[in-house]
Amino acid sequence: MAAITPDISSRLRPELISVVRLILVDVSNLQPGEKVLIITDSRTPDHVVAVFQGVAQSLGAEAVRIECRLPKGGATYQPGSSWPSMLKAAAAEANLIVDMAVGYADFIIDGISRGTRVICPGDGIGSPFMEDTLIRTMLHADIHAIRRHADRIAARFTAAKHCEIHTGKDVFTVDLTDVEGAAGDGFLWDADKGAWKSPWAFLPPAQPGVLVPLGRGDGTVNVDGTLLYHPDYHEKPDSPLRLTFKRGRLTAIGGDPYLAARLENWLGALGDDGAYNGPVHINIGNNPNALLTQSQEWERVYGSITCGMGDLSMLSRILGKEMRHALSRSSVHWDWTVLQPKIILDGRVIAEKGRIFCDD
Ligand SMILES: [Fe+2]
Repeated sequence: MAAITPDISSRLRPELISVVRLILVDVSNLQPGEKVLIITDSRTPDHVVAVFQGVAQSLGAEAVRIECRLPKGGATYQPGSSWPSMLKAAAAEANLIVDMAVGYADFIIDGISRGTRVICPGDGIGSPFMEDTLIRTMLHADIHAIRRHADRIAARFTAAKHCEIHTGKDVFTVDLTDVEGAAGDGFLWDADKGAWKSPWAFLPPAQPGVLVPLGRGDGTVNVDGTLLYHPDYHEKPDSPLRLTFKRGRLTAIGGDPYLAARLENWLGALGDDGAYNGPVHINIGNNPNALLTQSQEWERVYGSITCGMGDLSMLSRILGKEMRHALSRSSVHWDWTVLQPKIILDGRVIAEKGRIFCDD
């Protein structure tokens, strides 16, 4: 299990109103008269959902909500999930979707192609910790400073041709030739430029990095942070989980005996060859208030690195990216995090011992 249990409130915290206003105005640029669809499920407390609806209405928008049943298997299985036709019909009408349940789905991609914007306050899933996480990582942090920092880190990824991740004595390398960095800062709207930044974004900010083409990634990495796999738990190994890769394929699982066996058994039972592909994304966390909790805020822990495995085809379509490279396809997407690796881009250290060196 992840290391820290955040607070689950039994009543509305007044600070949540401020953070939701921040999300709908600063992050999403919601305008009076627009139609907002809030998609949720029973994982998220009702008062949290009500605040999104109420603040949207107070801004002059029309806001409705639909509560879906829990997706089987959680976030890992999002690429292969199916959703009700009633939800798809409502989504087709929306200018802005506040998604606290679905994540990756074809109807979300269809909406984006028609001009719908999508903001995911809990990184595409619901959670009982949503209120604590958003207040701590957005209201009590300078999200605009995090956004600008994420832009600088993304620019370093764009410029780099080679990435090294050092964990202990092991080295893991990825060829970044012709790969573009992405800020992953959670903003649909860039207030500095007065322009739209992305049609789809996930919160809290930020996790700048790259989407990795199929077949890249060699060496060994020691995972001491989170493992997100089956069914929806975020587990932290008691001792590092040792993953070895060859040309973008997971070839050996060792280290922590419990998690190594669990992961090997799960992957073996899936019968999905694409699940072994990775890393499909590499991201550096840069939120000073993100913690290793059961919320996916763990991907933003300052100075950590998170890599995705399995499917990338859906995420790239959601982001509206025309990819020049072949991308991994799978029915699952799973992730692993290293807490304080040394990360080197083209010979320059960009992160080490929980610090990020990217002020230029
Ligand atoms: Fe991922």
